Amino acid sequence: MKPVGRAWASGKLILAGEHAVVHGQPAIAFAVDLGSTVEITARPGPTAIDGPIQDPKLTQAVRMVVGDHGYGVSIASTLPIGRGMGSSASLAVAIVRAWADLTEQPLDTFDAAMPLERLFHQNPSGVDVAVITRGGVLRYQRTVPPTMSSLPCPSWTAVVIDTGKVGVTADLVAGVTSRRPAIDPILARIGALVDEATTVLHDPAALGPLLLENHTLLAQIGVSTPQLDELVGMAMAHGAYGAKLSGAGGGGVVLALTDDPAPIVAGAEAFGLRAWITRPVEAP
Ligand code: MEV
Repeated sequence: MKPVGRAWASGKLILAGEHAVVHGQPAIAFAVDLGSTVEITARPGPTAIDGPIQDPKLTQAVRMVVGDHGYGVSIASTLPIGRGMGSSASLAVAIVRAWADLTEQPLDTFDAAMPLERLFHQNPSGVDVAVITRGGVLRYQRTVPPTMSSLPCPSWTAVVIDTGKVGVTADLVAGVTSRRPAIDPILARIGALVDEATTVLHDPAALGPLLLENHTLLAQIGVSTPQLDELVGMAMAHGAYGAKLSGAGGGGVVLALTDDPAPIVAGAEAFGLRAWITRPVEAP
């Protein structure tokens, strides 16, 4: 065993298919360059998180991997928390990877991180853990076992607009689930749209309208907010090919596909919001 185990894991954005993916439809997600770092050190006493990030669920997640005694764990993240960018899945994967690094024992990262993600979100589809584990761009479907295919990394850029508001994934997923079966045709259309998006992934002009349709369908299943709708409208008015909420909604972030980010970033800043350019990160 090493004295210290260290690991990094990225965050993610969902390009299309969130929520429907919980109910068996496909989704496309990509890894981003923000993420989390975990360090695990052997030391006497109860296993605890060192440093400013303190959260009972996170301590429980750490203990699920390393045990109740004998380790100090420090955690740092550059991801906005609770904004649909995979902060919990990123931590789950980084904890598992840091433990594998410390113990020098290989672990199946997806299988080992999923119980932690279930602790955070109750009924996750697995798409976040899958794309963060693999990197790059991933088509994911919650079959048994899950179906995962890496897609070639497109070269477009996008803008992320952070509403600054936390969306509680477990509650939003439960809300969507409670609206079934009435909304099943909408979930099926989201799945079909994801398959169309897979065929035009490298063509922003063809992809954009599918993203916008995806946003409208997410609003119809009750996970958008007036602010998210307004930001999507703002991005479109500033020349985006398409825009949508990304992740669980109820707050979180908007993803706008564009080759001219400056007006959209300025539009977000005029609302007092943070916005930045992102692009899919190649798998390592
Ligand atoms: C969250 O990033 C995506 C959701 O579809 C939940 C999940 O797939 O676990 C809303």
